[in-house]
Amino acid sequence: MTYQENATSNTYGRSGGILLPLMPEAVGIFTIPERKHQAYKKCAESIFSTAPANTRRMNEKGNDLEHISNFNNQNIFNDFPKLKGLKEDLKEFSIQYIDLIGFTCDEVVITDAWLNRANINAIQKPHSHNNSFLSGTYYINFNPKKHSQITFYNHKLLIGNNTNPSISLPRSKNNSTPYNSKELLVKCKEGQVLIWKSHLIHGYKTPNKLKNRLTLSFNIMPRTCTDGNAYSFTINE
Ligand SMILES: [Fe+2]
Repeated sequence: MTYQENATSNTYGRSGGILLPLMPEAVGIFTIPERKHQAYKKCAESIFSTAPANTRRMNEKGNDLEHISNFNNQNIFNDFPKLKGLKEDLKEFSIQYIDLIGFTCDEVVITDAWLNRANINAIQKPHSHNNSFLSGTYYINFNPKKHSQITFYNHKLLIGNNTNPSISLPRSKNNSTPYNSKELLVKCKEGQVLIWKSHLIHGYKTPNKLKNRLTLSFNIMPRTCTDGNAYSFTINE
């Protein structure tokens, strides 16, 4: 790929200098059609009210963050087969994401999937999803003004204790860029599905302001991981 000075995504400075956005990260945004979304929402809400105790997990502080099918031997789509249609939609979006970023993959496996319900004051600490290629969130019951929005953390900047040699400079007050921002907030709407590479650090630190922030999280692997030539392995569900 060749970068050109007149590309629309370039940033131009006062002095005429330009910035080329080499090697960005891609977050995919997909939308579940409204009628389907309402059916999935009803189904997810009924799962939250009827799920057996062995599928429920609370966070260590209490009930501000609850999960269903979040233990390592569980998957919401195996535990509650009535969500089959959603499973197929998420697989299709993942294959589209891989296609959009310029790779090929005919089949994916949802290795983990679980429901989350955040109540008032819930936060999610910065984390990434190990042992996975793609991860994502489906916004099932979500008020963008009151429910916390997802934040991605810029792993190219200092976060926490960095053990590598590094240079730090004061951040310009009037110029927020993808290069100087430690936190990149993505504004989502109910019915949307976000998909990203699993190694990206994400969470939300603004305490959730309204009860019942309902989302479904998932991890996805290509069925066959191959370089298209010599090296490969296959994932089973
Ligand atoms: Fe996560």
